[in-house]
Amino acid sequence: MNSIKLENKNLAGVVTPEQISAYDKVATDAIYQIENATGEGSDFLGWAHLPSSITDAEIEDINNTAKNLSDNCDVVVAVGIGGSFLGAKAVNEALSDAFATSHKVVFAGQNIGEDYLSQLLNFLKDKTYGIIVISKSGTTTEPAIAFRLLRENLEKKLGKAEASKRIVAVTDASKGALRKMADTEGWKTYIIPDNVGGRFSVLTPVGLLPIAVAGFDIKALVEGARAMEMTTMKPGADNIAQTYAMTRNALYNAGKKIEILVNYNPRLHYFAEWWKQLYGESEGKDGKGIFPTAVDFSTDLHSMGQWIQEGERTIFETVLSVECSDNTVVIPSDKDNLDGLNYIAGKRVDEVNKMAELGTRIAHVDGGVPNIRITIPSINEKHLGELIYFFERACGISGYILGINPFNQPGVEAYKRNMFALLEKPGYEQQTAEIKKRI
Ligand code: PA5
Repeated sequence: MNSIKLENKNLAGVVTPEQISAYDKVATDAIYQIENATGEGSDFLGWAHLPSSITDAEIEDINNTAKNLSDNCDVVVAVGIGGSFLGAKAVNEALSDAFATSHKVVFAGQNIGEDYLSQLLNFLKDKTYGIIVISKSGTTTEPAIAFRLLRENLEKKLGKAEASKRIVAVTDASKGALRKMADTEGWKTYIIPDNVGGRFSVLTPVGLLPIAVAGFDIKALVEGARAMEMTTMKPGADNIAQTYAMTRNALYNAGKKIEILVNYNPRLHYFAEWWKQLYGESEGKDGKGIFPTAVDFSTDLHSMGQWIQEGERTIFETVLSVECSDNTVVIPSDKDNLDGLNYIAGKRVDEVNKMAELGTRIAHVDGGVPNIRITIPSINEKHLGELIYFFERACGISGYILGINPFNQPGVEAYKRNMFALLEKPGYEQQTAEIKKRI
């Protein structure tokens, strides 16, 4: 049983239940295409039954490596970008205390920020640290730069032998520079399966290892995902991944080209970043695809609220609603009541948040913004696992309904070619000559 609920009744009259049901046949076909590996990109379906195929022994091995790193390092730097970064960041952020003064896992390689890297090296100056370097291709520039800097620094600090004990590489079984380096240096490695694309890889060691190092329960995360896998494998009215995929395609075809993932809990900020990659990279191709974006409410109601309420009517919202917060904070009464807040004295902060959510939903629907609502009972490993798999499964179905291959990403190479040409990378001589004529 999974515990996530989906509600799609507040669609501002943009599409009717019948118009959504019209996608039943194509959604059912999509589910069978995923199950039978008969659709486009079927060599990248390793994610589909990943939760049910991960063994206890694999989880234990990841937990042992995590413990070893954790016990021997003050902090561990997870180096990666895109699908090799966002899943772990999303889960760690959702489960961490926002005001913790130290985090066991920090991230690098997700940007080319010189200040970021300089500040990181400074932060690590008096610390013993470990590195989890994650790259499926093993050749991505951003993490390669960060890794070179961090590794060199670690080796200077501890010597090559001690440094090597604190480096773990997560990469392809045989291809790429990182695999070659790991084999040469004898680092502990984990394999990213060939048939699992970056944005679908959070439930492989790509995500599981940094999540385990941060101290979170990866077994519960996988169990949550497994529960969702079981309930979304078959087509039917109770398959919420199917319903979500059908609803968003119906809205897209009714002119709603932008989907805003809304949360009312700052712990989910990075979850939305992960979701943006999942849907953006999967669906934005062949001149098609919903543009996925995200906001944190109520924070962004004070910046983006106006646009959402009254701007161009090309948007719909998918709200991630958390039923119960972990903590209780009650608004106190004040005898002078100078701030006029006594009318909510005695209420929990979360009650106010829930009314902000409900009031916003009604206002936005009144303003012509369709609203899909996805509810999770609380933020913990199990429910995050369910949510991750729910969105992955729905993404596959949705992409097939849209008529694209949801599992490739040919477009991400274009900027890399230009960057390599501009940096005069060996092998790019012709592109270098061509691009220089354009600048
Ligand atoms: O989904 C993708 O393929 C990309 O966003 C990758 O995740 C990202 O570029 C990182 O790639 P790699 O893991 O090969 O370093």
